[in-house]
Amino acid sequence: MHYRSFGRTGWNVSEISFGAWQLGGQWGAVDDEESIATLLESYEAGINFVDTAQMYGVGHSEEVVGESLRRWQGDKVYVATKIQPTVWPSADEDDPTMRGRYPEWHLRQGVDAALQRLGVERLDLLQLHGWFRSGVDELDWLETLNALRVEGKVDKIGVSIRDYRPDEGVDIAELGLIDSIQVIYNLFEQRPRDELFPAGARSKTAFIDRVAFDSGSLGGLWTPETYDQWEDGSQQKEMFRGERFTETLERVEALKKLVAPFYSSLAEAAIKYVLSSPEVSTVIAGMSNSRNVQRNVSYSDGEPFPQELLDQLAEHNWPRNYYK
Ligand SMILES: NC(=O)c1ccc[n+]([C@@H]2O[C@H](COP(=O)([O-])OP(=O)(O)OC[C@H]3O[C@@H](n4cnc5c(N)ncnc54)[C@H](OP(=O)(O)O)[C@@H]3O)[C@@H](O)[C@H]2O)c1
Repeated sequence: MHYRSFGRTGWNVSEISFGAWQLGGQWGAVDDEESIATLLESYEAGINFVDTAQMYGVGHSEEVVGESLRRWQGDKVYVATKIQPTVWPSADEDDPTMRGRYPEWHLRQGVDAALQRLGVERLDLLQLHGWFRSGVDELDWLETLNALRVEGKVDKIGVSIRDYRPDEGVDIAELGLIDSIQVIYNLFEQRPRDELFPAGARSKTAFIDRVAFDSGSLGGLWTPETYDQWEDGSQQKEMFRGERFTETLERVEALKKLVAPFYSSLAEAAIKYVLSSPEVSTVIAGMSNSRNVQRNVSYSDGEPFPQELLDQLAEHNWPRNYYK
């Protein structure tokens, strides 16, 4: 495992980290003991960063991560969690107002609940689950987060940019008001390279990459039968409904052919593409089994990404929002 600096914080985080949404149960039934075993195996393999949220299984993911920390005897594992706004704007709403979405009472209540579920005295990294561009002017959220830092309940702070809106993070990245920014960046969503990453590099803001596998399609293991095998009501069955699944699969097949001369699998290319951007500190891979932990850890090998492939991949940029 290779490690990267996490912006200005002085932390060294594993290039591959653990995305713990799946552990909340919204992607299909979960067995908590298996989840804890997978987390412990990942720490053993060198992963030292976990991303979770209040929202994942209504706090259940945080509880499972907390239990894994209590059982872990090794080096420090950083845990990033998130608090939702009081009201989410519609995914179609451009430039929603920030003021009032994270009132002091709400952030304080959320932090206390997260501390309890994780079983820690201080949150390593607290992220606002929804970031809205006007937050660079409407700063009530920052007053509260700064106070929580001074009180010792929160160490570092960050924001998570809305799905497929990397432009909404450019101003805060430039200003460097926070320690980290979480963003979707993968073989289909290449736009963070254009403006967001250079802005964050100037202020030394860390980037956390999410959805490197496009929530599974870029793992390269789906077949035409996969959709019907998913549990009814699961997150992925909703996201890839209708024509979405077939269209995605066609594009995935094209990518597989393109990367085949360079990498042994599409999953490897997907992770290494993200790591090719030095601004990315860590990739939170969603994982719920040992096989994927071992595979993903092995992709952190420090090898450079071939420029020839990078050039060819540009035309496969295909941002679309399947969370809607
Ligand atoms: N801030 C936000 O609003 C937000 C939104 C979405 C996600 N997130 C965070 O980002 C994390 C990742 O998102 P995600 O889980 O949706 O997307 P992802 O990491 O792109 O994809 C996860 C899927 O890929 C599979 N996978 C993992 N490694 C693989 C490999 N080597 N080969 C083939 N398939 C592989 C996983 O399978 P298994 O489950 O079987 O291991 C899972 O189905 C979440 O857990 C969460 O922490 C944050």
